[in-house]
Amino acid sequence: MSQTIESILHETRLFPPGAEFAAKARVSGMAAYDALVARAQADHSGFWTDMARENLSWRVAPTIGLNDSNAPFFKWFEDGKINVSYNCLDRHLTTQPDKLALIFEADDGTVTTATYRQLYHRVCAFANALKAQGIEAGDRVLIYMPMSIEAVVSMQACARVGAIHSVVFAGFSAKSIHERVVDAGARMIITADGQYRGGREIPLKKAVDEALAMGSCDCIEKVIVYRRTGNEVAWDPARDLWWHEAVAGLPQDCPPTWVGGEHPLFILYTSGSTGKPKGVQHSTAGYLLGAVMSMQWVFDIKPDDVFWCTADVGWVTGHSYVAYGPLAMGATEVIFEGIPTFPDAGRFWRVIEKHRVSIFYTAPTAIRSLIKIGPDEPAKHDLSCLRLLGTVGEPINPEAWMWYHNVVGQGRCPIVDTWWQTETGAHMIAPLPGAIPTKPGSCTLPLPGIDAAIVDETGTEVERGKGGFLVIRKPWPSMLRTLWGDPDRFKRSYYPDDFQGRYYLAGDGANRDLDGYFWIMGRIDDVMNVAGHRLGSTEIESALVANPLVAEAAVVSRPDDVTGEAVCAFVVLKCPRPASHADAKKLADDLREWVAKEIGAIAKPKDFRFGDNLPKTRSGKIMRRLLRSIAKGEVITQDITTLENPAILEQLNEAAY
Ligand code: WTA
Repeated sequence: MSQTIESILHETRLFPPGAEFAAKARVSGMAAYDALVARAQADHSGFWTDMARENLSWRVAPTIGLNDSNAPFFKWFEDGKINVSYNCLDRHLTTQPDKLALIFEADDGTVTTATYRQLYHRVCAFANALKAQGIEAGDRVLIYMPMSIEAVVSMQACARVGAIHSVVFAGFSAKSIHERVVDAGARMIITADGQYRGGREIPLKKAVDEALAMGSCDCIEKVIVYRRTGNEVAWDPARDLWWHEAVAGLPQDCPPTWVGGEHPLFILYTSGSTGKPKGVQHSTAGYLLGAVMSMQWVFDIKPDDVFWCTADVGWVTGHSYVAYGPLAMGATEVIFEGIPTFPDAGRFWRVIEKHRVSIFYTAPTAIRSLIKIGPDEPAKHDLSCLRLLGTVGEPINPEAWMWYHNVVGQGRCPIVDTWWQTETGAHMIAPLPGAIPTKPGSCTLPLPGIDAAIVDETGTEVERGKGGFLVIRKPWPSMLRTLWGDPDRFKRSYYPDDFQGRYYLAGDGANRDLDGYFWIMGRIDDVMNVAGHRLGSTEIESALVANPLVAEAAVVSRPDDVTGEAVCAFVVLKCPRPASHADAKKLADDLREWVAKEIGAIAKPKDFRFGDNLPKTRSGKIMRRLLRSIAKGEVITQDITTLENPAILEQLNEAAY
């Protein structure tokens, strides 16, 4: 890691915004950026309150900005009254009812659309259905949906009635659904019969049925099922209800439920360094403000843009930059059901050309996989519609950045590398593309009103050029409010005593160069980043140990060309180690399937190694740094004098399956 960062820090290429881009940008030139930063520095709470009043539509405008009387449980705009769905839909009805809000491209290429007026009516009808089923403000609704207009409608309808949604990525398993239903105490699940991805049909309701059969799910009263594939599903008439039947005959208007600025908008579960996922809880007004300001500052969104964020609504990116941000800005956006490589490696570029996408936002892992399988594909398409490119989810290596810049953006489009997290709600460190010159591999500078810094173990800011912990020193509106049902864990995880509870600890290591640019080095805890998705090593270890054959497991990551990091599992069996290559391979495949069932396919370990034991210190701690070296195929040069059982290293080094 330190080697990578060393080499990255020698990156000297600098890309100032083009004159034409800068001239038209919402924030044009460094002086304009500096002025915003200075304004926020002079009056942090006042700055954000001004932004909130100017950029959101309120029923009752807030008089209070930040309330830090119960730190670290910060509050923003608590005396305001607002509704997120009103901000995304109703406020555009008089100005642009017939503008396209959503362009949906299905896996097979079929396109369907919704104007702002149509989307408004669909959301209202579904909000009425939620109410008809007894859903009230504050109730939790779990959403397990494919990428679709209906996924956005579900989220917006929850927001409209003040219900708290918890979206579970449709690639997660029944076990994951179950865990989240129980933790959130959800009353309803919204799902679909199935979905299509890469030409394959994947059942969804089946996973919901399995989850609810696992017990302790009495909180769930109704399951609403959107018919996507039309294939047969099991049915419990007392519990299950088709979407189209739930909305039939209901009025297409539904007054928004006005809620306080601090009312929880959603819970989104994410991986932490212990086994149990964290229920990150976001607010209404502050969260929306983060989405709206970053749409303007970072995406420079304009009325005639066509915006495409490829993230699934199951991740935070799909919340802030699919379900809420673009709609709150009245933009036209593309949503896509499929995958980048189906039917071929030209799919993304065809979608961009077809829908005249002007702002494209995706993950480095997608870029790397497309470089690998179709580096010449972009040139076969007319991508002159593009004006801005973005990345999110993991560090982008400078060479992938250059390809994105030259081949996709044809040297014309600025790239916004956006650093943020599920917990931060919106972009935190990212270039304002008309102002900040970019460097390949750096997310550049913090947004106005975001006080990011790099500190050592004592909380002291480190010198420029030195690495340390990335922290945010002042609270910001779109930050998480707590972890659902676990305020102590919230405090421990994000405001640890190490820094006297003063700073938000992001959990990432970072470096700042002499120009003050931020370079993210990756996680400092046991969280891995595979294909831009956060996976807790403990989560995967617990899943492995739950298998009847497994006695002990340790999971680490190693670098991977395409997915950034790959999961490597070290396993001790209850029975003797597999005798042959074929046996070991079969066992590894079985365990991969097991993990897919326990968590989801994204968590499947790429490599398995079997040993009679794991390398441990005399006090019994697993020596993860050794496992990391083995996973990378490095020769072990580290000090192993504290290792209790050195012979084990040879065994673990033998072969990976
Ligand atoms: C990583 C995704 C480098 C980081 C929005 C962070 C990044 C974690 C970047 C959050 C970036 C995200 N450069 N690393 N531009 N963006 N990360 O919660 O480690 O799924 O802590 O949110 O992804 O992942 P999460």
